Amino acid sequence: MTPDLPAELKAALERKAEGLSRNDAARRANVISQAYRGGGDSKAIRSDDDALAYALARMPATYAALAACLSAMIETRPDFAPASLLDVGAGPGTATWAAAEALSSLRAFTLLDSNMSLRNLAIDVARSASRLSEIDYRQGDAVKLLADAPNADLVVASYLVGELGTAERLRLADAMWSKTSDTLMIVEPGTPAGYARIIELRACLIAAGAHVAAPCPHDNACPLIAPDWCHFSQRLARSRAHKHLKGAELPYEDEKFSYVVLSRKTIVRRRARILAQPKISKVAVTIKLCTTSGIEAENVPHRDKTNYSRAKKLNWGDALDEKKSTPE
Ligand SMILES: C[S@@+](CC[C@H](N)C(=O)[O-])C[C@H]1O[C@@H](n2cnc3c(N)ncnc32)[C@H](O)[C@@H]1O
Repeated sequence: MTPDLPAELKAALERKAEGLSRNDAARRANVISQAYRGGGDSKAIRSDDDALAYALARMPATYAALAACLSAMIETRPDFAPASLLDVGAGPGTATWAAAEALSSLRAFTLLDSNMSLRNLAIDVARSASRLSEIDYRQGDAVKLLADAPNADLVVASYLVGELGTAERLRLADAMWSKTSDTLMIVEPGTPAGYARIIELRACLIAAGAHVAAPCPHDNACPLIAPDWCHFSQRLARSRAHKHLKGAELPYEDEKFSYVVLSRKTIVRRRARILAQPKISKVAVTIKLCTTSGIEAENVPHRDKTNYSRAKKLNWGDALDEKKSTPE
């Protein structure tokens, strides 16, 4: 699955953006981004124009992160064919679009969010994709709405839990897990704080019987020691309009994210996870791995020609078989 927005979504957002001046969109996106940086949340999105500016600025990156998480989930559980999705804190519907793209088995899409403008936008752009034209988007508080929401094979909370206080976050995790028939995916910004929220919920849900499908190859406590933290990075191309909107020069952006995918099923295929971009020298490729027995540094020496050239192609976030520690 590529990290790029699906063509239908891109076109639908561009059509909507025709009614908004680029400078106005950039100003709105900047106000929202400043609110987030100052510890605020998406309450800064107060109008339909704000919602569109937010989607234009952030959806490419959050979609790219979700694409990476879904790919990791599918790699671990290739037979998982969910029919239903529950997108909690769905906002503009980013996770719904990403899951629909990754999983052709999905038929029923339920989205929950408290923000009316983001809901309006999501429903509007979803009409551009025949599979998403019948989404069931419910507006209100996620924990309350979850009580009456249908169970789903796949439940996703993407960039949501950071907007909640500790008690609410734990209530939400419980409520989401009770609606999860098979798999729950939680994605957060790849900051130490985002990671802390992920491991907090990971521990609670393992205690409730969940198994980790990704990124960890085990259900043990996270072996990383602060100030280290588990996060990944997804590169995405920036269009000229996207650069203008973000006041950015670079033609690409690296979205950092932390995540966990939890399943009710026992995970059969446990593979080590690469926790940083491998270091390549003329002597060796050095790979930082999370394995079933903890954090390990794997050295693939240059003299081991075949494995060295394979290892050079590895990326941060890839999974590896533990014994061989080389791609299949
Ligand atoms: C940062 S946005 C992420 C949106 C979307 N999941 C994505 O990845 O693009 C967070 C979303 O969570 C929603 N949200 C925050 N607190 C909520 C709550 N208590 N109940 C329902 N939605 C909530 C916001 O309205 C917003 O749409």
